[in-house]
Amino acid sequence: MAKVTVSQLTEMKERGEKIPMITAYDYTTGILADAAEIPVVLVGDSLGMVVMGYDSTIPVTLDDIIRHTRMVARGNKSSLIVADLPFMTYQVEPAEALRNAAKLLQEGGAHTVKLEGGTNVASTVRRIVDCDIPVMGHIGVTPQSVNAFGGYRVRGRNLEQARQILRDAVALEEAGAYAVVLELVPSPLAQLITKRLKIPTIGIGAGAGCDGQVQVLHDMLGLFTDFVPRHARQYASLGPVIKEAFVQYSSEVRDGSFPTAKESFTMDESILEGLEDI
Ligand code: KIV
Repeated sequence: MAKVTVSQLTEMKERGEKIPMITAYDYTTGILADAAEIPVVLVGDSLGMVVMGYDSTIPVTLDDIIRHTRMVARGNKSSLIVADLPFMTYQVEPAEALRNAAKLLQEGGAHTVKLEGGTNVASTVRRIVDCDIPVMGHIGVTPQSVNAFGGYRVRGRNLEQARQILRDAVALEEAGAYAVVLELVPSPLAQLITKRLKIPTIGIGAGAGCDGQVQVLHDMLGLFTDFVPRHARQYASLGPVIKEAFVQYSSEVRDGSFPTAKESFTMDESILEGLEDI
């Protein structure tokens, strides 16, 4: 498959073709997403929770995202690779945001960056886009704002929030974003935004009316057992499968049935004789 570009995503929206996107965090998941012809792969700061074990995305650093983006980019040759700008790498000033976005491309191998916020980050989005780094927006529930929001509850159910989310979406499009993630937004609002924008919307917990969908890899594979978000669908239940494999391995090492000759290597007996004097 040829490398997916940002303009192809706009064309997909125009054709009414849905856009699948998943997160990936390393070489192996980068290869697998490529093999499954997933057009967009996100190296999300969700890695802070599902890979690094933090209780939010706040502690994730730019170096964390660069390191994991490099792993994904080594394995994935066809998807559009989006890397998250972590908390406080773009909020302080646009020039710093631009420098950090550039690092995700130059050092990480990403093709585009994603950042959270709407009207409040529009001038930053413009600054980055003006330097030819494509930006994906992210509005609705923005996990980096967990301490301000006090949790991860659906946003946009009251008029004030719904108006702000719509304003955010329009501001991102006007600032030059090429797509926008809508996280935990009521389906009718997500549908209205999708109709209003020319750029694609990518939903997570935002209903079927979005132009695309994104899922966190560990949620969809049943790997992350701390909790399963309501908006996630498990396409596999790998956690219990992996645990059972560990249990069986451990028991076979203990009872001596692993390894056998099949998993071992032979050598010439005469070489052993040459070791007898040591
Ligand atoms: O970090 C992430 O995985 C994300 C998705 C939930 C969109 O931002």
